[in-house]
Amino acid sequence: MRTLIKNIKELLQVRKDGIDKVCGVDMKVLPTIANAYLLIENDCIIDYGSMDNLQGIESDKIIDATGKIVLPAWCDSHTHIVYAGNREGEFVDRINGLSYEEIAAKGGGILNSAIKLQATSENDLYKESSLRLEEIIRLGTGAVEIKSGYGLTLEAELKMLRVIKKLSLNYSIAIKATFLGAHAFPKEFRENKEAYIDLIVHEILPMIGQENLAEFIDVFCETNYFSVAQTDTILSAAKEYGMIPKIHVNQFTSIGGVQIGVKHKALSVDHLEIINDADINTLKTSQTMPVALPSCSYFLGIPYTPARLLIDNGLPLALASDYNPGSTPSGNMNFVVSTACIKMNMTPEEAINAATINGAYAMNLSNTHGSITSGKKANLIITKEISSYGFLPYAFGSNLIDSVLINGKSVK
Ligand code: NIG
Ligand code: FE
Repeated sequence: MRTLIKNIKELLQVRKDGIDKVCGVDMKVLPTIANAYLLIENDCIIDYGSMDNLQGIESDKIIDATGKIVLPAWCDSHTHIVYAGNREGEFVDRINGLSYEEIAAKGGGILNSAIKLQATSENDLYKESSLRLEEIIRLGTGAVEIKSGYGLTLEAELKMLRVIKKLSLNYSIAIKATFLGAHAFPKEFRENKEAYIDLIVHEILPMIGQENLAEFIDVFCETNYFSVAQTDTILSAAKEYGMIPKIHVNQFTSIGGVQIGVKHKALSVDHLEIINDADINTLKTSQTMPVALPSCSYFLGIPYTPARLLIDNGLPLALASDYNPGSTPSGNMNFVVSTACIKMNMTPEEAINAATINGAYAMNLSNTHGSITSGKKANLIITKEISSYGFLPYAFGSNLIDSVLINGKSVK
């Protein structure tokens, strides 16, 4: 099956094979072809170029994209979309003056979501989560990472990871699973935190390894959550099962999370709202992708990750949604890209690079996703008729997507 998209006003993020991420000043460059065509065979991009060179190409289906822009689907490298219920009550508590940390200290927050999830059947959890997945696909996401971390018992963590696995089998977008058992200490371990670390290391991790349920390992390395030493222990143990770290660091405090992540060759370190010179210098020595989550900053009213500082120091940056019930009840990557431009002073080119190729890198998917490259998956966004790609972040809140293609097929 061959599909030809023709008369594309501008085809964005056209890259030669072998580019896995973009860093520093290169993030300001977004390679494009004006008045372009794109040819898809089955699930992959096989050719593209200027309409002037479109000759003798046969196809089974033609999409006319006159006036429209085509770009790779968003690569959302950090989400928690498998969860039960919501935390609307805490949202109102925060409006009335409690902080996110105060709510957590009262036993709300992640523990509140864990109670709900533990009481939800695997089937119901799958149904709820699949609705969220379908929603983000319609919003242009073509690859996504999903974390566990609202189970906090062996049984409930496995339930979450099995739901993620089932989603990855039933949906055609790329889905990567991350084990985040170290998301919060369950109440019963408050006075004996080391016992929870032991449970993770000696009971939960071996089961996950055996069932091959997670490619990545995550820890919420933060004051009042998991210390740097505890993070070190968990990441070391996960290495035995071949799990690669992608960790939550520096959301509220800089305590050495970046350093422990880099020491363990983390694929990404995520959040980074609070970052100092030592953190920047450590990142410069690594292949670790910094990931910013601007919708979380927006929703919680906390600082935005200092994108300019990172990029102007020559580092790469990825953007992700953090879709979760507590700090970011939205998986809209269009909003993420807009907010990065509006609140983090990223240019449209930087934000689009961060949400496509660099997001793919943060999921180990750069070989197949994140750019318009022959041989990569035909996961694409076709916009409505718009003036230029800068209009995407500018017109925040408008739905500018005409259609989404996943593996070469239009999403209904
Ligand atoms: O990335 N920071 C830790 N974890 C999530 C939020 C967890 C929650 O509040 O449910 C985050 O923001
Ligand atoms: Fe998160």
